[in-house]
Amino acid sequence: MTRRSKPATVQVLRTLSAMRTWTARARGKGETVALVPTMGALHAGHLALVRLAKRRADRVIVSIFVNPAQFAPNEDFSSYPRTWDADAAALSELSVDAIWAPSVATMYPDGFATKLVPGGPALAGLEDKFRPHFFGGVCTVVAKLLLQVAPDFATFGEKDYQQLKVVTAMARDLDIPTKIVGLPTVREKDGLAMSSRNAYLSANERAAAPTLHRVLKQCAAGLKAGQSLAATLDEGTAQIESVGFAVDYLEARHAETLAKIATLADGPARLLVAAKLGRTRLIDNIGV
Ligand code: PAF
Repeated sequence: MTRRSKPATVQVLRTLSAMRTWTARARGKGETVALVPTMGALHAGHLALVRLAKRRADRVIVSIFVNPAQFAPNEDFSSYPRTWDADAAALSELSVDAIWAPSVATMYPDGFATKLVPGGPALAGLEDKFRPHFFGGVCTVVAKLLLQVAPDFATFGEKDYQQLKVVTAMARDLDIPTKIVGLPTVREKDGLAMSSRNAYLSANERAAAPTLHRVLKQCAAGLKAGQSLAATLDEGTAQIESVGFAVDYLEARHAETLAKIATLADGPARLLVAAKLGRTRLIDNIGV
């Protein structure tokens, strides 16, 4: 009789000293380390980042920390999905080496008074225009995670495209010797970008949500066929709104700098969208 082997239980690190010991031990053995920073509520997009990390590093550590510093008071910090048991089971199944799960008090102890103020892509007038607190909070926590874990590389999904550019610039500007690796967005069968916030969608909203990706693809095709940028984006915005979204932005930007572009010739171009469906704010983007 064959016995199915139970997945190993992943090691959970909760204190800075445990974290430092773990990383020092890996370094002592000459092993490479990859970090996958997350806020938990893991979905197939996160797991793709983990698989990539596992292919390229000897040791993979996933951080799970819902970072209060990147939520404004009116945002969903308290209701953000927290699915610890399922997350730990999924990471055990993938044989991740460790989870770094610090408390808020560990990351932001009493007297904590230092926050990064990113510029460049963090001031592109996209997410930052609607969530002005966001990239300061992200950069502060990601810088701390990179310094705590000291990984060779860290993976980020392209779904949060501006975040990927901001974190890349931050690591470069602060001489943090971690390579930032981006991975294409993982999508549901109907094209909806995987996101922990998709869990907020009602059945009707879930049915309408793939419109975002469909319209992005349609706009990209139109632009490649020579349509004008302004007309294409106006038409795309109208289509997204017709299924009930309130559009924050639908824009074409330079894929590297996120600067505004007037035509595709100013590219490589990236289309980026953010829109609210009921109380859920979704973002997506594609290359043109
Ligand atoms: O993309 C996320 O899940 C978060 O912004 C990150 C990078 C883990 C920082 O809290």
